[in-house]
Amino acid sequence: MSLENKVAIVTGAAGGIGYAIARRFLSDGAKVVIADVDDARGEAAEEELKSFGEVRYVHCNVAEKLDVRNLVAATLDAFGDIDILVNNAGIVIGGDFLDLDEADFDRVLSVNLKGAFLCTQAIARHMVDKVEAGGEPGVIINMSSVNAVFAIANQVPYSISKGGMNQLTKVAALSLAPYGIRVNGIGPGSIMTDMLASVNSDKAARMRVLSRTPLGRVGEPSEIAGVAAFLASDDSSYMTGQTLYADGGRLPLNYTVPVAEED
Ligand SMILES: NC(=O)c1ccc[n+]([C@@H]2O[C@H](COP(=O)([O-])OP(=O)(O)OC[C@H]3O[C@@H](n4cnc5c(N)ncnc54)[C@H](O)[C@@H]3O)[C@@H](O)[C@H]2O)c1
Repeated sequence: MSLENKVAIVTGAAGGIGYAIARRFLSDGAKVVIADVDDARGEAAEEELKSFGEVRYVHCNVAEKLDVRNLVAATLDAFGDIDILVNNAGIVIGGDFLDLDEADFDRVLSVNLKGAFLCTQAIARHMVDKVEAGGEPGVIINMSSVNAVFAIANQVPYSISKGGMNQLTKVAALSLAPYGIRVNGIGPGSIMTDMLASVNSDKAARMRVLSRTPLGRVGEPSEIAGVAAFLASDDSSYMTGQTLYADGGRLPLNYTVPVAEED
């Protein structure tokens, strides 16, 4: 198994894409810490995933430095090491550019971007100490989005945070390359999670998404987990500073594709 004996932290893994990554990593042989703010879902996820391998839920608001410090300590306490970090926690707050509240801007940036920085810095320090003591370098994966490249007019801080995430991937990759620590990103298109709930309930929203998706369907969280498994494993050993887009063909597409009419 490609992640045998590895220890991974996945933030925002109580549900959605993070949960699918935790499950995939466990199946690939890793021990996994699920870090999230939703304690009820996090504890339920730990219970559900136990049958796949060793897994712990740890409460952690990634935007809070003390929580991040506690996450590192709790992971080392439970599993004795950290080899893989996935910065997946993210939130969306919509709003028109002209009316957006400063507090909403700060909240999205603090979770999506500062949170990824705090986790990367704290866990990279552990990884660097390990390398200097003769150990193996680790891997860091940042959850970006096609909205790092595109923008959506009413998703102002979200689009900005994901653009920043791609730069975090690059700057962390360069800073950590001397230690052999690799940092890469994943840019999903539209993936069926709570974040995309409107697409289930709103036909017009679904049509909009599909008209921009050449593969003709929304993606599954497991299809992002597969990319994360590749980036976490030695199969991607010569890659760092890149963001891979798993988006059903959206980024290469100019204009739209036809969508079959629904009944
Ligand atoms: N679903 C999509 O279509 C899509 C597309 C592109 C990118 N993404 C990105 O993928 C990631 C996961 O999204 P998802 O669709 O699974 O969303 P989701 O809402 O299903 O899951 C996000 C998780 O993050 C947790 N979280 C929120 N704030 C947190 C905080 N401060 N600290 C720790 N955990 C926190 C939530 O409790 C939740 O469990 C996000 O970074 C998102 O931007 C999603």
